[in-house]
Amino acid sequence: MLFNNGTIALLVALKLFDLPEGSEVITTPLTFAATAHAISWNGLTPVFADVLPDTLTLDPAAVEKAITPKTSAILGVHVYGTVCELDALQDVADRRGLKLIYDAAHAFGTKVNGRSIASYGDASVFSFHATKLFNTLEGGLIATPRREDQESIYFLRNFGIKNEEEVVSVGINGKLNEVQSAIGILNMRGITGEMQVRAALRQNYFEILGDVPGVALQPKQNGVTSSEQYFPVVIDQAKFGRNRDQVYEELKSLGIFARKYFHPICTDFLPYRDCQIHSVRQVPYVSEVKSQVLCLPFHSGVDAQDLVDIETVFKRKV
Ligand SMILES: Cc1ncc(COP(=O)(O)O)c(C=O)c1O
Repeated sequence: MLFNNGTIALLVALKLFDLPEGSEVITTPLTFAATAHAISWNGLTPVFADVLPDTLTLDPAAVEKAITPKTSAILGVHVYGTVCELDALQDVADRRGLKLIYDAAHAFGTKVNGRSIASYGDASVFSFHATKLFNTLEGGLIATPRREDQESIYFLRNFGIKNEEEVVSVGINGKLNEVQSAIGILNMRGITGEMQVRAALRQNYFEILGDVPGVALQPKQNGVTSSEQYFPVVIDQAKFGRNRDQVYEELKSLGIFARKYFHPICTDFLPYRDCQIHSVRQVPYVSEVKSQVLCLPFHSGVDAQDLVDIETVFKRKV
C-alpha cells in the first residue's frame, strides 16, 4: 500500500503489529536515522546489533545475542540494496516468537531467486524519496504477505477511519497524494532504462576497481537480482594505503561526489549515543566499517571521464 514517504510507512509497519509499549526492536546502526526513529516514535526501544563483514547487513548471531525477554521484533535493513540474511533472520524470529520487519528503502525491485524482496518477513517498507531509483519526489510503500494486514494498514494510513462514523485505530495521515502519484507514473517509464545503465556501470566499477588491494566492492549475492541503487566500496587503509576520507576528498576535488553512507551511524547520533552495539566480536565490526565505507556515484549521469577520474584516484600510487 502506498504512503506519502518511507518514514511514515515505517511508523505504520511497526504500529501494525501492536508491539508491547517499551518493548525492544533489534536493528542495525548502519542505516538512515529514520529506521531507528520509527522505532522510538512508536514508544518502542531500538536495540542495535552488529553487521556482517561481507554484506554489511544485520548479523543474525548478533541479533540472537541482543534478544532479551523484552524483545518484540527485528527490523532488518537491506542496506545499499544488499539483501539481509533472510533465512537466518526468519529462523531467529520464528524460534524466538518475534515479528520480522524489513526496511527495504534501498531494495525496490530486488528479487531473490525470482521472488520479490517485498514478500519476505511480516512486512517490508520501501521509500520513493527523490534519491531513490524509483521516486515520487517523496513516497513510500508497505508490503505484507498477509492479506488481513492490508485492511489494518489502510485504516492506519488514513487516521484510522473505517467509514463516515467509525475510527477504529490510532491512525496517521500517510496517504500518497495525486501529484506524487503522477510523478511516480512518469518516473516508472524510465526505471528499466536507468537500471540497465546502472547495471553496466556496476560492471565498469568491477572492471576498474576489482583488483585494487584493500578495496572491497559490494558483494554479488547468489540468486539476487539487484535493484541497482547503490555501489558501496569498503576501503581498508592498512592494505590500500589511504583512508576513505582521503579518497572522498580526492574525488570531490575532481567534482565527483561520493557519499559516506552511513557515517555517522545511528549510535553516533545524540538520541542513541548511549546505546550499546551487540556483537559476537570484541569490537563491533560496524564501528570499524563506518569509517571505511564509501558509496560511489551510481546513476546515469556518471560519464566515461568520471570513470577515468575514479580509476585514477583509486589506482594512484602513494
Ligand atoms: C534505509 C532508509 N530507511 C528509511 C528511509 C526513509 O525514507 P523517506 O525518506 O522516504 O522517509 C530512508 C531514506 O530516505 C532510508 O535510506
